[in-house]
Amino acid sequence: MIRFENITKSFGKRQILRGVNLEIEQGKTTVIFGVSGGGKSTIIKHMVGLLKPDSGIISYKGMRIDNIDESALREIRKKIGFLFQSGALFDSMDIRGNVAFPIIEHQKLTPKELEYKIDEKLTMVGLDPKIVKSLYPEELSGGMRKRVGLARTLALEPEIILYDEPTSGLDPVTSDFITQMICRLRDEMGMTSVLISHDIAESFKAGDNYAMLFDGVIVEAGGKEAFQNSPNEVVQQFIHARSTGPIAFH
Ligand SMILES: Nc1ncnc2c1ncn2[C@@H]1O[C@H](COP(=O)(O)OP(=O)(O)O)[C@@H](O)[C@H]1O
Ligand SMILES: [Mg+2]
Repeated sequence: MIRFENITKSFGKRQILRGVNLEIEQGKTTVIFGVSGGGKSTIIKHMVGLLKPDSGIISYKGMRIDNIDESALREIRKKIGFLFQSGALFDSMDIRGNVAFPIIEHQKLTPKELEYKIDEKLTMVGLDPKIVKSLYPEELSGGMRKRVGLARTLALEPEIILYDEPTSGLDPVTSDFITQMICRLRDEMGMTSVLISHDIAESFKAGDNYAMLFDGVIVEAGGKEAFQNSPNEVVQQFIHARSTGPIAFH
């Protein structure tokens, strides 16, 4: 569904991506592992065109998206849901307003259809619309805010959802819930997901395919079993969190 071919990206003098090759398979959940500051969020931002590569090709369903103009990119972005690390809700709007916002931006619905959709998406993420719609983000726990963020992402009926560290800083119950949501969306709707996570145990519950980013390249990629059994030392150190001293970093 998404393909990276030899993507390079520098910020100033520092080259963060040094030739990334990556394939995101439709209808599956792909997990991207990597050390903090290694460039995982940078990869995700390239998928939605928030960043442009210095070289290489990015395609979405076979269509190049790295060199298209803003209006074409806007059309692609409607299909790609992006759950930000923080949840990124509007503090000045109640929960109803937060979920309604992208729907009103992108879709023409009657007031009744709009309310139905808001209620449907909040229910999907395990929140009671009657209780939460009139609350403000500051009145919710971090876990509930994350659920609202997911409801807002789902409201646009995306073809693919990108999760950037969706469980970081969350309690175990909410972490587990997010993991289950990722699996349910795949199993019940055929959703494609990309998951960046430090939470190795949760990721192994959710993922079909795995990729390890290290020193600016994908050093290993494959299905769960093959990945877990990879002879690559970086992979083994990462998934077993073995502290055999720091791995040489470029
Ligand atoms: N817009 C930017 N300008 C300058 N440096 C950036 C920018 N975005 C990311 N970086 C740097 O690139 C590196 C990779 O960042 P990031 O993709 O956020 O890593 P990760 O998500 O794997 O923790 C970091 O050193 C970060 O400081
Ligand atoms: Mg990041």
